[in-house]
Amino acid sequence: MNVDLTTRYLGLSLRNPLVIAACPLTAQIDKLLLVEQAGVAAFVMPSLFEEQIEQDTRSIEPVESEAESRYGPALSFFPGIDDFVTTPDAYLRLLEEAKKSLSVPVIASLNGVTPGGWTKFAALVESAGADALELNMYSMETDPGVTAQEIEERYLELVQSVRAVTSVPLAVKLGPYFTAFANFSRRVAVAGADGLVLFNRFFQPDIDVRRFAVTPLLQLSDPSEMRLPLRWIAVLHGRVDVDLAATTGAHSANDVIKYLLAGASVVMVASAVMQHGPEFISKTLNELRSWMAQQEFSSIKSLCGMLDQQSCPDPASFERANYMKTLLQYIAPANRRHDA
Ligand SMILES: Cc1cc2nc3c(=O)[nH]c(=O)nc-3n(C[C@H](O)[C@H](O)[C@H](O)COP(=O)(O)O)c2cc1C
Repeated sequence: MNVDLTTRYLGLSLRNPLVIAACPLTAQIDKLLLVEQAGVAAFVMPSLFEEQIEQDTRSIEPVESEAESRYGPALSFFPGIDDFVTTPDAYLRLLEEAKKSLSVPVIASLNGVTPGGWTKFAALVESAGADALELNMYSMETDPGVTAQEIEERYLELVQSVRAVTSVPLAVKLGPYFTAFANFSRRVAVAGADGLVLFNRFFQPDIDVRRFAVTPLLQLSDPSEMRLPLRWIAVLHGRVDVDLAATTGAHSANDVIKYLLAGASVVMVASAVMQHGPEFISKTLNELRSWMAQQEFSSIKSLCGMLDQQSCPDPASFERANYMKTLLQYIAPANRRHDA
């Protein structure tokens, strides 16, 4: 059976739903050529930060040694510190080079949280050839004096100001920490987003009890982390007028299939490619193709959103009712039958 893996995301026609998420390896043309050859459909460049655009310089915490001690030699695809792009000029040069060297769409990424002059950089990214722009709004709102409403208004103003200076398709990457996430997503769409990327994965600090220090912790994802974005993609699909991109925790073809069934148009991967290299892409695409043929799905379109909240047999499973059901089903490990 012939299966059609093509999908549409942000108005772009993609050869399949696998996209490399923003991460340092998308700053390396040689690595991008390898993942393109392995079949990836598009990639998101690492974010250029508001602060970098404002100041033109920024020091980046080295993550290399931390990553190496954690994941060892398996991380052959892990980028070095030189692979971080730290100035606006270098960013535009990298974007132009990527456009010349690769045939898949290139999505640029800006990280910011305050509206201001820096947002004009979005127009330069468009001139340099970006096929789309991802606005990564990553912030920890720690001021007890600032309300949720103020934060949301600021975010919306930022989306509007980026939308105003560029006509390329715009995706907004968000964290999950909003009180009324469904409502906020709809307002982000109304403010000008064509897509939502769910979710930003915050690096959480740890405490070193020997050195009495707070330490940044770079930890690659694992599949258990995909449950939160999976739920929200299923809830929002068909309800908010945007394309949905899944990011976090996709480490196998099964994970990709789950996200597609929930309603994602594309699945973005970073950790799995950093750990396993381009083979992860070719293997996942082969397995996706086989699964679709076996299940008699002729296209991605025919399965996308099949288990979103509105279509699944038990819509309450995405809500509070599921919490009670799950607790009632819990069987302490000591009482579990081994054949269960
Ligand atoms: C080392 C590293 C750097 C990253 N840099 C960025 C970035 O610049 N911008 C961004 O939006 N996300 C960034 N991310 C987050 C990824 O794009 C992705 O959303 C996240 O890793 C979850 O996907 P995964 O489970 O496939 O790793 C980074 C992730 C890693 C591991």
